[in-house]
Amino acid sequence: MDPEEMLRSLDLERRRGLDLIEAAATLDELEAAQVEVMGRRSPFSAVQKSLGALPPDDRKRVGQAANEVRGALQDALAVRAELLQHLAEDALLEADRLDMSLPGRSPRVGSFHPLTIVEREAVEVFTSLGFRVAEGPEVEDDWHNFQALNIPPDHPARTMKDSLYVNVPGRPELLLRTETSAVQIRTMQSQPPPVFVVAPGRVYRRETPDPTHLPVFQQIEGLAVDEGITFADLKGTLDVFVKAMFGERRRIRLGPAFFPFVEPGCEVGVSCFRCDGAGCRVCGTGWIELLGAGMVHPVVLENCGYDPERYTGFAFGLGIERVALLRYEISDIRLLVDGDVRLLEQFQGVV
Ligand code: PHE
Repeated sequence: MDPEEMLRSLDLERRRGLDLIEAAATLDELEAAQVEVMGRRSPFSAVQKSLGALPPDDRKRVGQAANEVRGALQDALAVRAELLQHLAEDALLEADRLDMSLPGRSPRVGSFHPLTIVEREAVEVFTSLGFRVAEGPEVEDDWHNFQALNIPPDHPARTMKDSLYVNVPGRPELLLRTETSAVQIRTMQSQPPPVFVVAPGRVYRRETPDPTHLPVFQQIEGLAVDEGITFADLKGTLDVFVKAMFGERRRIRLGPAFFPFVEPGCEVGVSCFRCDGAGCRVCGTGWIELLGAGMVHPVVLENCGYDPERYTGFAFGLGIERVALLRYEISDIRLLVDGDVRLLEQFQGVV
């Protein structure tokens, strides 16, 4: 090879080499490019091998050019290698990436049962008036559920037809309480007057479920006993309760009713919150019967060891289901215990 030819070849190899290096898309391709332009069989190697045969002047000139080309190619290889190394690492990281941008699964938020909502709210009204919460057992005995409440042995409420008795050998007097009024007795027995309590709880009656009856339902009992308690206190308390539960514009109406444990006894109605007393589909007559109440019977006070000459009191009992049906305009009481989420979902966010 003559020197000029060698210099042309070097020039060509530099450009060809730089192009190949630039074109390498992976580290493998880069290695192949290196073998191609600088390997033993490359034109570049051929030039180097021929150097020895040149006269000293030409050898120096061509040798310098060869060194320069080698340097340029090696630099380009190093730069490209580093870049491809980075790209390879990035690709690895990208492949390992956890995509956390998905919407994710949030827990389903539940809601309070309408009966829970009503019970809590009602109890809250009474506790804000100074009543405290009392409780009693759901399995009661005959004395607390009937006798102490002035319900004589021949009273129809005591028959098997109305009550559910539990089958405990040797304890024929045990039954599921038929009204929370039994808690009146337990409370008075456990403390001296004054008494101001509300007792929410389940009660049981021998009843076939229909749109207005359930064999298991809930009541809130109220009892206030002190010196000088009058019928006006009863009226005022219930008026506050009804306005808090059904709105400021509601009025109450009291009519005579009989319950063995109160005297006088009354039935309390509220002016319809839908038609305001004019008469509609919800109320019929403009008034909705809400609860039973009355002045605690002297015999009941005496049964609990209270002096009826000194103390008087009032009591009331209301059905929680009834309040919920009226308030949410639900047409069938059984819907409240079916557990159908389509009903329950509608109370989302109500507290
Ligand atoms: N216990 C009665 C009932 O279940 C309601 C009531 C309670 C009436 C207190 C008067 C006084 O129907």
